Amino acid sequence: MKPILVLHGPNLNLLGLREPEVYGSLTLEEIDRRLVEVGREIGLEVRALQFNGEGDLIDALHQARDWARGVIFNPGGYTHTSVALRDAVASIGLPVVEVHLSNVHAREEFRRQSMIAPVCVGSIVGFGWRSYWLGLHSLAAILNKSDIK
Ligand code: DQA
Repeated sequence: MKPILVLHGPNLNLLGLREPEVYGSLTLEEIDRRLVEVGREIGLEVRALQFNGEGDLIDALHQARDWARGVIFNPGGYTHTSVALRDAVASIGLPVVEVHLSNVHAREEFRRQSMIAPVCVGSIVGFGWRSYWLGLHSLAAILNKSDIK
């Protein structure tokens, strides 16, 4: 069975150090370790990647067409600006779940708009690392053709 891509966008490599009052104190490495473990428990192989560059994220999404069954995507700050990432998500024909650690709707006005959300199967925001946890379970449900549309 093909793996799930967990794709982290810009500045998320600094998790643990970066504004811990907003994003929590877990490092990206620890979050990825937990997600691999959760995946194992629910029968999904998880491969995690992080890039700061928009082009690298686009390349990773394109390449995922060949090897992944679905994507959990935190586009970081590009969420609010990137038409190119939105087009990449729309192009690849895989279910993509948008996730954010923080509740973007309760923050600055500019974070309330997501360029990415309309081309995703759903979005999960505000639960810290558990946004990814919920994203993985949602993807599992979708891939198992459960009652989620
Ligand atoms: C974020 C929210 C974005 O607005 C911000 O630019 C980030 C992190 C989150 O996970 O809460 O880099 O995607």
